[in-house]
Amino acid sequence: MRVSVFGAGYVGLVTAACFADVGNHVVCVDVDSEKITLLNQGIVPMHEPGMENLLVTNLNTGRLQFTTDPAVAVQHGEVLFIAVGTPPDEDGSADLQYVLQVAHVIGQLMTETKCVVNKSTVPVGTATAVKNTILRALNERGLDYPVDVVSNPEFLKEGAAIADFMRPDRIVLGTDSPEAIEVMRELYAPFNRNRDRLIVMSVASAELTKYAANAILATKISFMNEMANLADSVGADIEQVRLGIGSDPRIGFDFLYAGCGYGGSCFPKDVKALRHTFQAFGGEAKILQAVENVNQQQHHRLFDKIKKFYGEDLTGRCFALWGLAFKPNTDDMREAPSRTLLSLLWAAGARVQAYDPKAMSEARRIYGQRADFKLCDSPHAALDKADALIIMTEWKVFRSPDFSAIKNQLKQAVIFDGRNLYDPKRMKARGFRYFGIGRGE
Ligand code: UGA
Repeated sequence: MRVSVFGAGYVGLVTAACFADVGNHVVCVDVDSEKITLLNQGIVPMHEPGMENLLVTNLNTGRLQFTTDPAVAVQHGEVLFIAVGTPPDEDGSADLQYVLQVAHVIGQLMTETKCVVNKSTVPVGTATAVKNTILRALNERGLDYPVDVVSNPEFLKEGAAIADFMRPDRIVLGTDSPEAIEVMRELYAPFNRNRDRLIVMSVASAELTKYAANAILATKISFMNEMANLADSVGADIEQVRLGIGSDPRIGFDFLYAGCGYGGSCFPKDVKALRHTFQAFGGEAKILQAVENVNQQQHHRLFDKIKKFYGEDLTGRCFALWGLAFKPNTDDMREAPSRTLLSLLWAAGARVQAYDPKAMSEARRIYGQRADFKLCDSPHAALDKADALIIMTEWKVFRSPDFSAIKNQLKQAVIFDGRNLYDPKRMKARGFRYFGIGRGE
């Protein structure tokens, strides 16, 4: 099939490369000419495991092309995917200007009927707005082709996006057009083999499904963080509680890890946007408000423990920080808990020596040169003469470190762990003061 994808960001790029990999001819278009030049050279502008291989292989076969020219994309694709960003507006609602700009351009350039598919995360009603925008642009040209706009939300996790695309749990399609369902069924057939994963529903239901999925996951995390804070007060261990409740299949083990709060480009933005949708319809999202509040407080939780240990003024103190990315296997620092912690440490007068396996250039881009921030090229270099170690991302390489080397390098054997990587009892036996989240201290 001939497919075009608007947007070469995270979702667009993964979508384009995965469709090309199963034999489709894909054109991916973006307004960012620097990004398109890099992609055409086989360079991926972000860190995503497996992406570079997929890109280079499919560029070499000629099945994947990148362009800045929307006319090429509109002409090429039988199916046109919209996968551009929906950043939060000032009031927290999703900013639809990029999605609607693409819709307008499609309407200006279309010369035959196309199946338009929205993959961007958008509030309920956006598919209709996209359809109306295309129809208006067609009308301005004196044309009126029938236009189907399908909602096909993505469920890709950063760091595992290719596997999530290739082996999806479900493929959600919001449409009432039998023709569009057939086209999409054929396009997704290679990813839908041993059981039918296609769930067809109304457009509004598909749009809401995306937000509801992220919101319930964020809710699980905030719930566990709230329990963890109580566990600290009553001397319980949230890890043991997690095992105790997760073994009930109605609850399950996934997304029950307490920690320093959720971050990234999706949960914070989507919870806010969904709250905004409630308000727009005269309602109030009470649970989501609490989920957001707990998360904001949780970003401060480790700093509160640091302050309790050292006092308010951290002038002259230096901390080793392991992990800057909002989660492992990505270089993404959007809404990362590490960013809140850094600002709090700096405001209290401390210096930070940080290491992250992938997010160093991103940190350099965000913070530039500062006297109170040093980026180190190994976990152990970051420890050098620091007062304590702080862990903010659960990268594999931090899971089994050389504890005696840590003890030797730190001024005092103290660890503040925002990801609960180690066993508190064993840490005590090793001679550390060890502060986790919800582990009794
Ligand atoms: C999330 C969803 O998991 C994807 O299904 C969805 O498609 C994507 O958003 C999106 O809307 O595009 P992502 O933001 O990449 O994916 O990352 P997650 O793995 O979901 O982690 C989000 C945050 O929750 C991270 O900060 C992580 O550290 C935190 N988390 C996760 C916890 O604190 N505890 C947990 O048990 C799990």
